[in-house]
Amino acid sequence: MAAVIPFSQALRERTWTGHSDSEGAGFMTDLMSGKGSRDDYIALVAQHFFIYEAIEAAAERMKNDPVAAAFISPKLTRLPAIVEDLRFLIGDDWREQIVPLPTTARYVRRIEEVAATWNGGFIAHHYTRYLGDLSGGQIIRTLMQRQFGFETNGVGFYLFGDIAKPKEFKETYRTQLDAVDWDAGERERVIDEVLVAYRFNTELFLDLAQEKAARVA
Ligand code: HEM
Repeated sequence: MAAVIPFSQALRERTWTGHSDSEGAGFMTDLMSGKGSRDDYIALVAQHFFIYEAIEAAAERMKNDPVAAAFISPKLTRLPAIVEDLRFLIGDDWREQIVPLPTTARYVRRIEEVAATWNGGFIAHHYTRYLGDLSGGQIIRTLMQRQFGFETNGVGFYLFGDIAKPKEFKETYRTQLDAVDWDAGERERVIDEVLVAYRFNTELFLDLAQEKAARVA
C-alpha cells in the first residue's frame, strides 16, 4: 500500500514552487540582500495594510464557521501592528499617503470573494500569509532590523508577541489542516487556491518593482 502523506505535507510540497517564485522575486531579493531602501520597505508595509485589512475582516466574518474557526486566533491578528508601523514609518497622516497597487486591489477582491462563500478558500489565504509571516517573515524581520536600525518600531508586523514558539504554533496549525474533513476534490481546490495566493504575492513584488522604478526615476 502506498504511504499516505498528511494533507499539510502535500499542500506544502505541491505549492513550494509558488513559494520559491514569491521568495525569489527581484524586489524581495533586493530588499533581503541590502539593495533595497527604507522607502522600498515602507512600500511593502503599505500594501500589507490592505491585504490584512481584507483577511482580518474575513476572519471576523468566518469566526463562527465550524471549519474555519479552528484556524482563527487573535494571536495572529496583524492589522493593529501594521497601523503602528505605518504611523512610525510615515507619520500620523499615513492613511492619506498609501494606495493599493493594482495587484493588491485584485488580491483583496479575491480574498473577499472566496471568504464570502467558501471556508476552504479563506483558509488557503489565511495559511499562505500567516504561516509565511511566522516562517520567512522572521528572517525578513531580522534583516530589516539590521539594515534600517529598527528595534521593534517599524517591524511590529513581524513580532508575534502572543506566540512564544512559532515552530509549535505552525505544527499545531498543520495538525489542524490534517484534521479537516475535506475530500480529495476539496483538498485539490484548497491547494489550487494557495497557488493563487502565492501568485498574487509574486505579482505584488512585480508591481512594487515598477512602483519603485517610477518613484526613484
Ligand atoms: C524573502 C522572502 C521569504 C523567505 C526568506 C521565506 C522563507 C521561508 C522558510 C525558510 C520557510 C520554512 C519554514 C519552516 O520550515 O517551517 C517558509 C515557509 C513558508 N513561507 Fe516563506 N519565505 C519568504 C517569502 C514568503 C512569501 C512572500 C510568502 C507568501 C505570502 C511565504 C509563505 C510561506 C508559507 C505559507 C510557509 C509555510 C509552508 C508550510 O510549512 O506549510 N513566504 N518561508
